[in-house]
Amino acid sequence: MENSQAAECSIPRHGLAIVECCRRPRIRMRHKVPRDPSRIPELMATFHALCKGKRLWPLFIHGDPGVGKSVATYCMTDVLADYIYTDLDELCEALVTRSDKWRHIQDPDKCAILDEIGGRDVVSSVDADAVKKFLDLRENYANRVGIYVSNHSPDAIPELYGHRIASRLLCGTVFHMAGRDQRKS
Ligand SMILES: Nc1ncnc2c1ncn2[C@@H]1O[C@H](COP(=O)(O)OP(=O)(O)OP(=O)(O)O)[C@@H](O)[C@H]1O
Ligand SMILES: [Mg+2]
Repeated sequence: MENSQAAECSIPRHGLAIVECCRRPRIRMRHKVPRDPSRIPELMATFHALCKGKRLWPLFIHGDPGVGKSVATYCMTDVLADYIYTDLDELCEALVTRSDKWRHIQDPDKCAILDEIGGRDVVSSVDADAVKKFLDLRENYANRVGIYVSNHSPDAIPELYGHRIASRLLCGTVFHMAGRDQRKS
């Protein structure tokens, strides 16, 4: 099936449409990790419900190392027409270098994905500033459409990042990825 079979998902509650495509070969190549969305049916169903406006954005995914959180986000980007993908390290660098990456993060036509939130046990002020800025841009310009990924549980976020960031990260749909470390299989 080609992109001609693209179908538009409306998000009436937020007034933003995400275009969903059956195959996006160019985008599929961005992360060269083999992935199988059929291994995460519940999360993919939640994601589709979000795209249709049946659940609240943002999507916060948490779980132990190796359960498949990052690969799950690649599965989601495979069916998105356009998206922005970054992780916290990249984002901090963009903050320090004043990169124009930030301009893209406020784009309301793209789903924004921020991975590796809380990869470290100690959160620096640069980490916190970068996450807060990212979340504020999505909140103010993009109807909160975003996917946030962390090893930390929602309970740990306020202490690590403060209540204001926790409020922004956890105000939508929270999804716990359980299971074993798939790197060990
Ligand atoms: N849906 C999937 N399809 C195929 N392989 C998968 C899938 N999910 C996980 N894997 C395998 O498990 C490995 C670890 O997955 P992933 O990198 O997504 O874990 P993670 O939860 O993001 O870990 P970390 O918290 O350390 O970042 C992948 O490199 C891949 O080999
Ligand atoms: Mg990961």
